[in-house]
Amino acid sequence: MLGVCYYPEHWDEARWEADARRMADLGITYVRIGEFAWSRLEPARGQFTFGWLDRAMDVLHAAGLRIVLGTPTATPPKWLVDECPDILPYDEHGRVRGFGSRRHYTFSSRTWWRESARIVTALAERYGDHPGLAGWQTDNEYGCHDSTRSWGPEDLRAFRDWLRGRYQSADQLNEAWGSVFWSMEVASFDEVSLPVGTVTEPNPAQRMDFWRFHSDQIAAYDQMQCDILRAHSPGRWITHNFMGFVSDFDHFKVAENLDLASWDSYPIGFVEKFPFSEDERNRWAETSHPDIAPWHHDLYRGVGRGRFWVMEQQPGPVNWAAWNPVPKPGMVRLWTWEALAHGAEVVSYFRWRQAPFAQEQFHAGLNLAGQDELSPGGTEAADVARELAALPTLPASRPAPVAFVFDYSSYWATMIQPQGKDFRYEELVFRWYEAFRRLGLDVDVVSPGTALTGYKLVVVPTMVQVGDAARAALEMAGGAILIGPRAGSRDRHFAIPETLAPGPLAPLTGTRVTQVASLRPGLSQAVTGAVEGDVVRWRDHAEAVDAEVLARFEDGGAALTRKGRVHALMGWPEARLLDNVARHMAGATGLETLAVPPQIRLRRRGDWWFFFNYGPGDWALPRGFDCLLGDAVVPPQGLTIARRRA
Ligand code: GAL
Repeated sequence: MLGVCYYPEHWDEARWEADARRMADLGITYVRIGEFAWSRLEPARGQFTFGWLDRAMDVLHAAGLRIVLGTPTATPPKWLVDECPDILPYDEHGRVRGFGSRRHYTFSSRTWWRESARIVTALAERYGDHPGLAGWQTDNEYGCHDSTRSWGPEDLRAFRDWLRGRYQSADQLNEAWGSVFWSMEVASFDEVSLPVGTVTEPNPAQRMDFWRFHSDQIAAYDQMQCDILRAHSPGRWITHNFMGFVSDFDHFKVAENLDLASWDSYPIGFVEKFPFSEDERNRWAETSHPDIAPWHHDLYRGVGRGRFWVMEQQPGPVNWAAWNPVPKPGMVRLWTWEALAHGAEVVSYFRWRQAPFAQEQFHAGLNLAGQDELSPGGTEAADVARELAALPTLPASRPAPVAFVFDYSSYWATMIQPQGKDFRYEELVFRWYEAFRRLGLDVDVVSPGTALTGYKLVVVPTMVQVGDAARAALEMAGGAILIGPRAGSRDRHFAIPETLAPGPLAPLTGTRVTQVASLRPGLSQAVTGAVEGDVVRWRDHAEAVDAEVLARFEDGGAALTRKGRVHALMGWPEARLLDNVARHMAGATGLETLAVPPQIRLRRRGDWWFFFNYGPGDWALPRGFDCLLGDAVVPPQGLTIARRRA
């Protein structure tokens, strides 16, 4: 269940055999290679130098390792960029993002598609049936370094083509975008410009289409790579390594092409990336916040339709966050076990050996910089391997009782029209997830439209645009539903629905939103009734047309409503209100909860219960458990696996 990312091209060939042997001895099964090696595979057009990769694959295979081969399209080589500058992306200011790092291409370039197909075909033909090959990774981290969208001439051409397909005529486009506003009407698709460089904000429907267009492009580009790989490499699976807190494109859609999802887990790096308070950042600096990795495990289990890997696991300090502390002793082991608890099939560390040269010199590996000596993280990986070997096979994950519906386009919608500066979709979802996990509940994350019949509780922190499939799935859900603010507040063309928010959800919630307020930091509105606390950042002023009001604002307005099994919350709850709402929902649904302190989390896999301690002190398990790994007292940065006594 363990893997590692390896770059044979970074090391003298004389070291490969010993590296492979030491990986196998450590308990590693999978090794991912190749994803940045284009300049070494094809140093000049058509001159393929596969010899070194042939030998590397043979060495790894001979050591009993299973190989994951990455397609090298994240790093087009210099000769290609010089020959075909039209593959380069542009930033929002119309500046070319040039050669010299990675991800320097735009998904819009037809040349780029042709060149990608060429290198992927060459690799697939050469290695598609290599006996050591387990599967493929397409590209590397779509969207990384803000590379989803691009604002160049190729993008403009491709955007216009995409719009032609969507709207057929300029009239329909004008109608859909509401272009009559500010005289933005166009007479043909050739008059459409990119939503950038305008005096004030461009049309939001146009911007929404620009996000959709890029999201569709990534899915199509990935599909192109998958089709080639499948044709030449039958029987091998394909994945892509997605990222944490990147929602620029619809990952569910991209993953429809894939056999399994994978993601790159850098729990401590993400503490700087996520909008935590400074107090929280300090508190979790050396362990990470206990929901960061789990949220993504649950998300990517959903994206992968039940199957996911961690393709890159942080093994020590990273190099790319604002500050990069050393993880507390035990955390690399804890994160590994936690991923397995959430259903990961494999946890693969990034990287085998710290590179003493180039951009990532400060990034730890399982071995010290340039050395054949395990780092502290490497030692912990070896501990996990030993523990895994001593335990029986892990039981399969079961569906969780709670489903979170995650909607990428709600992220785009609220980025385009935040209305309140701090309305951040990812943050809303994360805080709600945190609240339910603090009740000891397991959570599945699903896409809008996924069947929800088996869940006791469905949570929709928001869903700005509600499509037919998403509405139908909610209508048919068997359990209780909790819907948050701003739901159904835009139609498919990004206009306010004719019936006002929550639009298509109104028959379910029995409510109608007449006004919305965003609240600046420091302002709040108190809620009393079945749940108590404050709303901050955002309030929906709603009428309970056909719903019971369970809690109200001070001015008498509805704060929490219920119609049958559907609850609607009319604002952004701060921690206490959120906690109360989560408890209220669990109570209303009859869910079995086990409230844990802020530093403890639990997760079940089959009948195994995993308890994780992110805090600085011991924590004692509740009574009634038999331990399989660890003890009834979980030490700091430790974990216990246990079974509940019948
Ligand atoms: C990932 C990337 C890797 C490496 C790593 C460093 O985003 O896929 O290639 O750069 O970060 O943490």
